Amino acid sequence: MQLLAIESTCDESAAAVITDQLEVLSSVVASQDELHQQFQGVVPEIAARAHLERILPVVDEALRRARVKPRQLDAIAVANTPGLAGSLLVGLMAAKTLAMCLGKPLLAVNHLHAHIYACRMSAGEDVFPTVGMIVSGGHSSLYRCSSAAEFEYLGGTIDDAAGEAFDKVAAMLGLPYPGGPAISRAAAAGDPRAHAFPRPFLKDDRLDFSFSGLKTAVRYRIAGPGRPDLSSIDLSEKEVADLAASFQEAVVDCLVGKAIAALQRTQLRRLCVGGGVAANGRLRERLSEATAEVDAQLIVAPIALCTDNAVMGGIAWERFRAGQFESLDLDAHPGLVRH
Ligand code: KG4
Ligand code: ZN
Repeated sequence: MQLLAIESTCDESAAAVITDQLEVLSSVVASQDELHQQFQGVVPEIAARAHLERILPVVDEALRRARVKPRQLDAIAVANTPGLAGSLLVGLMAAKTLAMCLGKPLLAVNHLHAHIYACRMSAGEDVFPTVGMIVSGGHSSLYRCSSAAEFEYLGGTIDDAAGEAFDKVAAMLGLPYPGGPAISRAAAAGDPRAHAFPRPFLKDDRLDFSFSGLKTAVRYRIAGPGRPDLSSIDLSEKEVADLAASFQEAVVDCLVGKAIAALQRTQLRRLCVGGGVAANGRLRERLSEATAEVDAQLIVAPIALCTDNAVMGGIAWERFRAGQFESLDLDAHPGLVRH
């Protein structure tokens, strides 16, 4: 059996064809980075309009590459929470229309759970139970994942997501959008100890993050509160590299510290990490060292499955098997709705 998964929660229009054995027959991702670059962040209205133009060609291409005809599909899956309202609606309407016209069952995908499921897709075997860490542009959270259907929230950011902090700090440093890869590249030549940035909550018991103050700390290190306009400040390449490396190290310290604390709290022996920030080389390296120290297994999604994609929509097979089908009045839920 094979299903078509559609993803349009933020600024990637993506579709994939996945078998019930979790074999990926095709995966197509149309990124909108070039459209949002000049604004240094995702503009929701532009994202929704771009999805509208791209979603059908992306679906067509996924079916063509998989050599699957629409009527040969056994189900249509779509990420309907969380995400940007306008973006979610485009994918949802495409999925509903296909499900209705083809007479196929409709399945809902929770985008955050799917980010963790990216680890299951790449592992090729069961990864549950596990601690799940999602580090993306919109979310930074820790879950106890007893199964693919049971995610218990353990903690997360109380303000900005890690990816958002990467994007905002990159903008301050005059680096391009998306900020994560740009900071990571700049940091390679920098000294992570050049600036002592804060590590919020690192010594607390809570499994939470806060990246907003860290962002402000970088801002004031570039120029004090009395100088609001950063564009007039000329940073040398070395200054940018040191700031990027020190910022990245502070974020990584927080993420690694809390991931290990979550393993200890839950007594689980496995950590699955997904989301765009999981593509960060330094984070991957430090997670690997830290999990080895506590003798836990680490599964980080492969780079291509860290940022948004439809392959992780393979999680929909779990709902298919449980008979959890949706009616055509399935709604988009921008705020996270558990299902
Ligand atoms: O998961 P994703 O594609 O979208 C959301 O669901 O939010 O994550 C996008 C985020 C962006 O903030 C981007 O800057 C960040 O992931 N990112 C990275 C790296 N690659 C992407 N952050 C740090 N290091 C990277 N190499
Ligand atoms: Zn995402």
